[in-house]
Amino acid sequence: MSVIRASGLKKTFRTGFLMRQVEAVRHVDLDVAKGSIYGFIGPNGAGKTTCIKMLTGLIRPTAGEAWINGLPVSDPDSRRGLGFLPEGTFFHEYLTGAEFLDFHARLLNLPASVRRERIPALLERVGIGHAADLRIRRYSKGMRQRVGLAQTLIGDPDVLILDEPMSGLDPLGRRDVRDLILSLRDDGKTVFVTSHILGDAELICDHVAIILGGRIVSEGCLDELLGKEVAGVEVVVEGISEALFEELRTGATRAVSQGSRFLFEYADEAQAEKAVDTVRSADGRLRSLVPRRRSLEELMVADIEREKERAG
Ligand SMILES: Nc1ncnc2c1ncn2[C@@H]1O[C@H](COP(=O)(O)OP(=O)(O)OP(=O)(O)O)[C@@H](O)[C@H]1O
Ligand SMILES: [Mg+2]
Repeated sequence: MSVIRASGLKKTFRTGFLMRQVEAVRHVDLDVAKGSIYGFIGPNGAGKTTCIKMLTGLIRPTAGEAWINGLPVSDPDSRRGLGFLPEGTFFHEYLTGAEFLDFHARLLNLPASVRRERIPALLERVGIGHAADLRIRRYSKGMRQRVGLAQTLIGDPDVLILDEPMSGLDPLGRRDVRDLILSLRDDGKTVFVTSHILGDAELICDHVAIILGGRIVSEGCLDELLGKEVAGVEVVVEGISEALFEELRTGATRAVSQGSRFLFEYADEAQAEKAVDTVRSADGRLRSLVPRRRSLEELMVADIEREKERAG
């Protein structure tokens, strides 16, 4: 079942005195399956936040339609089971973390008994239990991001839309947020998350769409997109002569000599195996042979290059 769906979404802004048109989103179709982590990946200005604003009913599409849990996003009921983390969240800085969550919980009409239990549990879950009674004014960027996430979860939503939840976080913070998103999926929730950090998406997303210039240019399961086949095979050997290095480098896509170690990269496993045989018959030693998968980074760079060529 699809939880978030969009068909031909488009948004054109008119700005400035001359009402110049900006085509922020040109054509976006989405189909986000229940229980998945869907990564919406693209560089700055690609149209990610604009799409999210249309999905959350903050702006109306110029064309196209979108649905959440089967309800059109023009219907406020579509947002009943939705948790939303906006980009660069706004906070009431004079409130403490716990007060801020209580404020949002009251907006959702949560009974006092639920609030009493859920607020400290959520603050713990996002790793700022110790700062529950500190004013948000004193929070670091990472702590703000975490209290924002806690606010997103306060109504126990089944659908989460998170706009750049890892922005401003250090590597440890990013890992915590990744783990949190994975635990949400384990609870059966559906997570739609934007990022331009490909590594993060690669680690947690089941499904990825790459958006460029307001259009989705690649989309699919991570395994499908990256291909199960290897992008190359890296071979590291020791104890070979310069002459053999020269011989092996023909046919390799990359060859580096690092003192007594030599690194080669071959296009496929067969070629790598052949090189290893040659090294062994010359009494060289094999240190490692590592098949390299295509990364999301390479995929996105390839998409950007293709779009550039298309544009002229
Ligand atoms: N209200 C607006 N009026 C005019 N142009 C806008 C408006 N909002 C966004 N844009 C333009 O639309 C394009 C897409 O912006 P958007 O914020 O959706 O990108 P993004 O993918 O979220 O980027 P980032 O990674 O930087 O957050 C940009 O060129 C931006 O300048
Ligand atoms: Mg954005």
